Amino acid sequence: MIIFIEIGDQMKTKLFKINQDNSETIISEGAKIIVSGGLVVFPTETVYGIGANALNKDASKKIYQVKGRPSDNPLIVHIADKDDLPKYVMNIDQIAKKLIDAFWPGSLTLIFNKKEIIPYEITGGLETVAIRMPDNDIARGLIRESQMPICAPSANISGKPSSTLYEHVLADLFGKVEMIIDGGKSLVGIESTVLDLTTQIPTILRPGAITKTMIENILSMSILDATHQNAENKAPKAPGMKYKHYSPNGKITIVDGNHLNVVKFINQEVEKLEAISETVAVICVSDYAPHIKCKHISIIGNLDDPKEIASNLFSSLRNMDQLGIKNIYIHSFSTDDIGTAVMDRLLKAADNNIIKIK
Ligand code: TXA
Ligand code: MG
Repeated sequence: MIIFIEIGDQMKTKLFKINQDNSETIISEGAKIIVSGGLVVFPTETVYGIGANALNKDASKKIYQVKGRPSDNPLIVHIADKDDLPKYVMNIDQIAKKLIDAFWPGSLTLIFNKKEIIPYEITGGLETVAIRMPDNDIARGLIRESQMPICAPSANISGKPSSTLYEHVLADLFGKVEMIIDGGKSLVGIESTVLDLTTQIPTILRPGAITKTMIENILSMSILDATHQNAENKAPKAPGMKYKHYSPNGKITIVDGNHLNVVKFINQEVEKLEAISETVAVICVSDYAPHIKCKHISIIGNLDDPKEIASNLFSSLRNMDQLGIKNIYIHSFSTDDIGTAVMDRLLKAADNNIIKIK
């Protein structure tokens, strides 16, 4: 399906939906745009990305304009084949090799010292570059067909939750990019783990589906986690982590504690707000939903399925804007496994507004 829509002076955005037999045509159309310096939104297994030719300074600059992204926040370079890595980075040591064997293609981004071919415009002026090989056939097909590495941040306006559904990409980027590919719901739903390999000990800069324990098991060594440097007012190592992120328009309150008391507290707050005609919604697991008394309840998954919760987090937050909700209550989640990444994103979305109940 190809749709061309033009509204006012907005850019023409070509919209494509992937089905069983059109992926080659769509990839070839997208690759032409990338090669000619345009922007293509494409699906990955983590979240949707806005792609441009990573070796073309002017194309990558457009990404910053479209997203309203600060220019010191570097982009991740996506590659389709492991063999392409040495073209772009220096010092691929045994640690890097083990991680690539174990986790690529997949949601692990690795930071290396860059080679000259990688422009400073996409690294925010840094000597390092972030690289990942996405676990998505459309994404890798687009990179291969373009014969270029593709730099791609998450497909959202800066500060908003990342897009994991086509509808959410459209809401932010329609009329601002040349093409959007609808590849369905992003399976992981949370951006990749970012791991710095330029430090003496590998250091996690952003948690994701590939956890610290998974990485340590492969390397048979302990690694560091710099995710919380922000909280201690130290300069964050991943420039992107210093900006307010993932926020819907409404105010998010996270409620943490014994689940019976959490439900009771949320119900009391909802009652007060509804009494003064404020819009309020509760995002919760299905296990809690029957006990919540609120007009708008959004179920994020089941308690025993952290992956499902992760995959629905951003879409639940974005739906709050579609419903025009001004007050959002959500309970905290276990920080086991991918739960670390879920709580990291949620705390940022809530600007650390968390209430602890006994
Ligand atoms: O899953 C993902 O990683 C998605 C999909 C589209 O691949 N992309 C994504 O990109 O989340 P973005 O731009 O939203 O986030 C990239 C993060 C930012 O926090 C950025 O600061 C950090 O990676 N980063 C990129 N290059 C870096 C570098 N050289 N040193 C430190 N941090 C870097
Ligand atoms: Mg992002």
